[in-house]
Amino acid sequence: MDTKIVRLGEGNTDEEALREAGEILKAGGLVAFPTETVYGLGGDALNPDSSRKIYAAKGRPSDNPLIVHLWRTEDLHRVAQTVPESAIRLAEAFWPGPLTMILPKSDLVPKETTGGLDTVAVRLPSHPGARKMIEFAGGFVAAPSANLSGRPSPTSAKYVVEDMNGRIEMILDGGEVGIGLESTIIDLTVEPPQILRPGFITGEMLSEVLGKVENDVTLFSVAGGQAPRAPGMKYRHYAPKGNLVIVQGEKENVVAYVNERLRKAKENGIKTGVIAATDTAAEYDGDVVKTIGDRRDEEVIARRLYGILREFDDENVEEMYSESFGDESGARGGLGQAIMNRLLKAAGHQVIRA
Ligand code: TXA
Ligand code: MG
Repeated sequence: MDTKIVRLGEGNTDEEALREAGEILKAGGLVAFPTETVYGLGGDALNPDSSRKIYAAKGRPSDNPLIVHLWRTEDLHRVAQTVPESAIRLAEAFWPGPLTMILPKSDLVPKETTGGLDTVAVRLPSHPGARKMIEFAGGFVAAPSANLSGRPSPTSAKYVVEDMNGRIEMILDGGEVGIGLESTIIDLTVEPPQILRPGFITGEMLSEVLGKVENDVTLFSVAGGQAPRAPGMKYRHYAPKGNLVIVQGEKENVVAYVNERLRKAKENGIKTGVIAATDTAAEYDGDVVKTIGDRRDEEVIARRLYGILREFDDENVEEMYSESFGDESGARGGLGQAIMNRLLKAAGHQVIRA
C-alpha cells in the first residue's frame, strides 16, 4: 500500500488534509495523526473492520483494547453506557487533554474496539489537528499509539514513517509532540477510581477532583506476578532491542558503578549506551551517551525518553544503563511517576542500587 504523507502546516489545522484524513477514516482506512501526547494510529472506532486493521498494522494482540477519541464532550454518553458524575467533573477539569477514562461501554462500540471488554477507554485530545480530524471522521476515532507493537510510542512523524510506511493509507506529520508520554488512564468503573497508567495528569491532580484515587499495584513493581489491569501494560512495551538496566543511588556511586560495567562490556566487544542527566553525561565512558536533560526538568525528560530509546535501536546498542529520573512517589507532584513507570517497563523492571 502507498502511504500518503502530509505535513500539517502552522497551527496543525490544515483543513484540506484533515478533511481528506476524515474521509479515509469514514471509508474504513487508517490514518496516523499527531496528538499532544504521542502519535496515534486512527481508525473508525465504530467499525469492527477498522479495529481489526489497526491490530494487523501494529502487529498487536487483539485482546489489547483501543482508546476511543472524541472531539467534543457531548459525545461521551454515546460511547459510555452510563456516565457517572465523576466522569463529568474530570471532563470539565481536564478535557480536552491527556486524560483517558474507563467507563462501561455502550452498544454503539463494537467489541473489536474494546478487545472483547465490556468497558471502553475514552479520551478527548487537545491537539487542534487531531480534534478537527476526529470531527471530519464522524466523531469516534479508535487510536492506539502509532508504533509497531513492542516499540516505543512515536513522538515525531519520522518514527511513525519508520514503523507504518506502506501499512496504512495516510500519515499526518505535525512535527514533534508536546508531552511525549501517553495519556493518564483512570478507571472509573471501580471504587475508589484506579490509575492504570500514569501520565501528564498526575494522581494529585485527579484526587483534587475525585477525592481518593489509587494506583494499580503493578505500576512500579512486578507485584508478585499480578497482571496489570490495563491489558496493554502487561506487554514488554516501550522496550529497546538491547538490555536496559536502571541504576539508582548517589551520583558518584552511580557513575562509578556504570563505568565499571561499561568497561567489562567493552572488553567483551559489546556496544554500550547510557542515558544520563546534563550534569553527569560527560563522566560516562559508554559508546553512545545520551543526555536526556536537566534532572529537575521533567517535561524535557518525558519528551525525550522514547526518542532516545529508538536512537539506541538505530545505533544497535546492546547493553544500556540509565540513571533514575523522576520521583516514583510523585512527591514532587510532577511527571515523575509517568517517567519512572515507562523507564521501568523499558528496563523490564531491572533496577540496581549502586
Ligand atoms: O496518549 C494516548 O493515550 C495515546 C494517543 C494516541 O491518544 N494512545 C495510546 O493508546 O497510548 P494505546 O493503545 O497505545 O494504549 C492504550 C492503553 C493500553 O494499555 C490498553 O490496554 C488500555 O489503554 N485500555 C484501553 N481500553 C481499556 C479498558 N477498557 N480497560 C482497561 N484498559 C484499557
Ligand atoms: Mg501504545
